[in-house]
Amino acid sequence: AAQDAAAGEKVAKRCIACHTFEEGGPNKVGPNLFGVIERGPGTAEGFKYSKGFQAAVDAGLTWDDANLMAYLEDPTAHLREVSGDSSARSKMTFKLKPEDDRQNVIAYMKTLK
Ligand code: HEM
Repeated sequence: AAQDAAAGEKVAKRCIACHTFEEGGPNKVGPNLFGVIERGPGTAEGFKYSKGFQAAVDAGLTWDDANLMAYLEDPTAHLREVSGDSSARSKMTFKLKPEDDRQNVIAYMKTLK
């Protein structure tokens, strides 16, 4: 079922090559994701985001469900849409296509606070 945090915790195993999810965990290729929804996009301490990501933040990107769904499906396309910069490129090259997986991993991330 959609919005299943326990299922989302399993989906998150596909993210751990690049992300840690625990409180105080290190940044890896990608930023630590503990509390990411509450802290908002682009705010992991000590992580250097791409220029395109920063441009999307400056253009008002927030981590509501709609933005997270679009970002996880195609990070670069979403940053381009939000920033209005067609040359923006996310440093996150991974795309999570299945809609249920995206909904569930978002539900999981909401529990991390
Ligand atoms: C950024 C989620 C998989 C690399 C992000 C952000 C989220 C996220 C929410 C934004 C963080 C913030 O606002 O601080 C996920 C999830 C994944 C996943 C749920 C698995 C389903 C991956 C993988 C990689 C990766 C496999 C590496 C191949 C990155 C990088 C950024 C990022 C480099 C920074 C983007 C930039 O600066 O443009 N990810 N990610 N992610 N992720 Fe992932």
